[in-house]
Amino acid sequence: AGHADQLIIDAGQKGFGATTCSSCGMVYSADNPEDVFQHSHFHLKLLSSIKFVGWKKERVVADFWDGKIILILPEDPKHAHKKAEDVRRVADDELGFQQVALSRPSRSKTYLFINTDRMVVGCVVAEPIRQAYRVVQQAAAAEALRDDILERHRAWCCSTVPEPALCGISRIWVFGPARRQGIATRMLDTVRSSFVFGSHLTTEELAFSDPTPDGKLFATQYCRT
Ligand code: ACO
Ligand code: ZN
Repeated sequence: AGHADQLIIDAGQKGFGATTCSSCGMVYSADNPEDVFQHSHFHLKLLSSIKFVGWKKERVVADFWDGKIILILPEDPKHAHKKAEDVRRVADDELGFQQVALSRPSRSKTYLFINTDRMVVGCVVAEPIRQAYRVVQQAAAAEALRDDILERHRAWCCSTVPEPALCGISRIWVFGPARRQGIATRMLDTVRSSFVFGSHLTTEELAFSDPTPDGKLFATQYCRT
């Protein structure tokens, strides 16, 4: 009997229920072999996608104590675009986007935040645009909805009046374990100072395409609207 009890105690120490991997961010059950297998697969794939070995030529556009931001332009070599694509795939999987290809590859600029452990922990895809439709709050519509998730998705929509904008943010993503450390903020600050040569864009000149609930919370704070 003592032996059986011991087994249960050991399993308990490993932890019934959810475990969060601190390096890949996946939540899984350490007691479920299928989950453990899926985690190890996801973990290796993710870490190889965001691993950054360093290039002979890097366009470093910002430097911080905890990392740097590099910019990838359409004319850059294949290996740079390959890395940008690997990272976009990770971001798109999380966002539920189907396509990894850029809608306008000849005009898109990709910014990657590389941390001091040589991992890409942030990605922003920016492209030139002429106008955008501002997101407006729809309080009345939100009240009518019961489902909380639906509410967060639908509680806002776009105004019908186009406003001038210069830079469209088609994707913004920060690696789960690296969130709430100002990485997205610093990436957009860097986009604003480097996107148009010789000028500094205001937050009003940025437009976010199709923001997610997370993206909306962040953008609201960033643009202080
Ligand atoms: N909930 C509430 N407030 C938030 C959140 C959140 N999830 N994220 C950011 N904020 C606000 C906070 O006020 C935060 O300041 P604080 O941490 O001092 O309170 C402020 O925004 C600045 O946040 P950052 O640390 O700069 O943002 P972060 O680096 O964590 O990245 C991002 C934010 C990009 C939205 C990240 O959560 C993410 O990648 N989410 C998943 C992908 C996603 O939804 N991306 C947006 C898609 S929309 C698009 O691509 C156009
Ligand atoms: Zn992991």
